[in-house]
Amino acid sequence: MLTQLTSLAILGSLVAAAPSPKVELINKRDSGTYANCRSFNADIYASTTQNIDLKSVIGAPPANQQVLNEASIQQFAAGSQVMQKINNATKIPVNGTYNLWFEYCEPKNGNATGIFQTHHGIVGNAGYWNFQLDNSPNNSFAESAAQAGWATLSYDRLGVGRSAKPDGTNVVQISYEIAQSVSIAQSLRSGNLSDIGKFNKIVGVGHSYGSNLLTGVASVSPKSFDATILTGFTNNATQGPLGLFSFQSTIASIAYPSRFSSDANDYVITPNVYVDQTGFYHYPNYTNASLYDFTDNKGEYTLGQQNTIAAPLQLKNNYTAPVFVVTGQYDAPYCAANCYATSSSSNSTSSSGNSTSTPSQLDTAKQLFPSSSNFKTYVVPDTAHGINYHTTAYSAYQQIIQFVKNANV
Ligand SMILES: *[C@@H]1O[C@H](CO)[C@@H](O)[C@H](O)[C@H]1NC(C)=O
Ligand SMILES: *[C@@H]1O[C@H](CO)[C@@H](O)[C@H](O)[C@H]1NC(C)=O
Ligand SMILES: *[C@@H]1O[C@H](CO)[C@@H](O)[C@H](O)[C@H]1NC(C)=O
Ligand SMILES: *[C@@H]1O[C@H](CO)[C@@H](O)[C@H](O)[C@H]1NC(C)=O
Ligand SMILES: *[C@@H]1O[C@H](CO)[C@@H](O)[C@H](O)[C@H]1NC(C)=O
Ligand SMILES: *[C@@H]1O[C@H](CO)[C@@H](O)[C@H](O)[C@H]1NC(C)=O
Ligand SMILES: *[C@@H]1O[C@H](CO)[C@@H](O)[C@H](O)[C@H]1NC(C)=O
Ligand SMILES: *[C@@H]1O[C@H](CO)[C@@H](O)[C@H](O)[C@H]1NC(C)=O
Ligand SMILES: *[C@@H]1O[C@H](CO)[C@@H](O)[C@H](O)[C@H]1NC(C)=O
Ligand SMILES: *[C@@H]1O[C@H](CO)[C@@H](O)[C@H](O)[C@H]1NC(C)=O
Ligand SMILES: *[C@@H]1O[C@H](CO)[C@@H](O)[C@H](O)[C@H]1NC(C)=O
Repeated sequence: MLTQLTSLAILGSLVAAAPSPKVELINKRDSGTYANCRSFNADIYASTTQNIDLKSVIGAPPANQQVLNEASIQQFAAGSQVMQKINNATKIPVNGTYNLWFEYCEPKNGNATGIFQTHHGIVGNAGYWNFQLDNSPNNSFAESAAQAGWATLSYDRLGVGRSAKPDGTNVVQISYEIAQSVSIAQSLRSGNLSDIGKFNKIVGVGHSYGSNLLTGVASVSPKSFDATILTGFTNNATQGPLGLFSFQSTIASIAYPSRFSSDANDYVITPNVYVDQTGFYHYPNYTNASLYDFTDNKGEYTLGQQNTIAAPLQLKNNYTAPVFVVTGQYDAPYCAANCYATSSSSNSTSSSGNSTSTPSQLDTAKQLFPSSSNFKTYVVPDTAHGINYHTTAYSAYQQIIQFVKNANV
């Protein structure tokens, strides 16, 4: 079973993440209902030996969209050995300093109890965590955190939006991004990230690819985060029709030339609003404005990220701190759109730590955190992968805040 899950996860690695607000809106916004926010850029040094020589398998960036389409078919074709070749690829060291774009939000009324360091998913950017819809704070994670007395640090991950865009095949991969996340958390603890001060309580929060990334941090640097919140996540991503293939990865500069004309051809994105609905939304539990805002502001991702997303799920960890998994009931890429369809009901109740909770695919994440002292799950009702864009977002945030409070982080 484990072996099967593992190989599934690799291709099934698909997955995704989510969106965000207007760039202009974020940059100009210095004040919400509960949070004061500001953006800044910072140079972040990181080093890993765990990237892979993906170019030796998929080659140089595709010459055009027809070349990329054929490569996608070959990767998912019956009998394809592409994923095994990727798993077999030689490891390469990557180190260096890249400029990243950050948004920091703090409570208006006083000092923060601690800070959430967020990690958005594929097709997302930092704005996923501070989504302002209809002049309401309710879809913004940063606002809910500030209301509860916590600060939030979000960033456009490497290769995305306003951050640096190096080699999208061999450099912008999840292992290097794991090292960057560790470096950012270290800077928060030592107080040398811009002018935002020093923090000794840091909770790592991820969505989708960002959650996979945090499972890697738990392995390589278990002291980085005092608790880990994984949203839009299970250890049972699908390789079926609702998985990665449904994202229809399209060269970003071709799909949206006005936004991504300077991106190399190994930077890709979902091609239209209906693909975004399939990957991220459950109808009708969102507003039309939410869906179109997602599509208008979504972020690009790289072939390096797409093909390494499952790598951290192979790592072992001794992470003992609290872990909370929060995933929408109809999450397409991580639950094949039905988190309650599960084959392991006998294991599930115990792994959720709550004998009365209904078993779900979220319980599979427990396998990744065997040493966690406090592992819990929450299925967000009537919600799909892009939790923060649904009308249920506010109640999901309250679950996260309550978990952190109860865990005495
Ligand atoms: C992966 O590596 C193993 C061991 O070197 C080798 O036997 C196998 O043929 C390789 N598979 C592919 C698809 O390259
Ligand atoms: C940094 O990466 C280069 C290859 O780009 C490698 O030769 C070197 O050993 C790496 N250094 C460290 C400290 O990992
Ligand atoms: C916030 O912390 C600073 C430094 O520790 C302190 O001077 C200030 O009084 C605190 N402000 C509030 C509102 O607690
Ligand atoms: C935000 O959610 C809270 C709690 O459900 C509710 O009381 C409030 O009316 C909502 N605000 C808006 C603007 O929708
Ligand atoms: C903060 O200081 C540490 C230790 O000197 C260093 O490793 C890190 O790169 C610094 N962070 C930033 C953002 O400059
Ligand atoms: C989802 O939308 C349906 C139809 O509007 C509504 O009846 C239901 O209460 C919503 N679910 C949640 C959890 O808000
Ligand atoms: C949703 O919003 C888009 C963009 O504003 C608009 O073109 C479309 O007609 C709207 N659709 C519905 C069903 O309201
Ligand atoms: C977990 O802890 C054991 C015992 O201290 C150690 O041997 C092992 O290397 C650790 N594993 C990881 C992934 O850190
Ligand atoms: C994993 O997902 C599949 C659907 O893609 C489902 O049939 C299976 O029961 C799930 N496995 C577990 C352990 O929940
Ligand atoms: C169920 O638990 C058993 C014993 O701990 C384990 O071997 C098996 O892999 C688990 N199955 C699933 C689907 O998690
Ligand atoms: C267990 O789950 C039930 C139903 O979801 C919930 O009401 C209860 O608070 C949970 N108990 C614990 C200890 O988490």
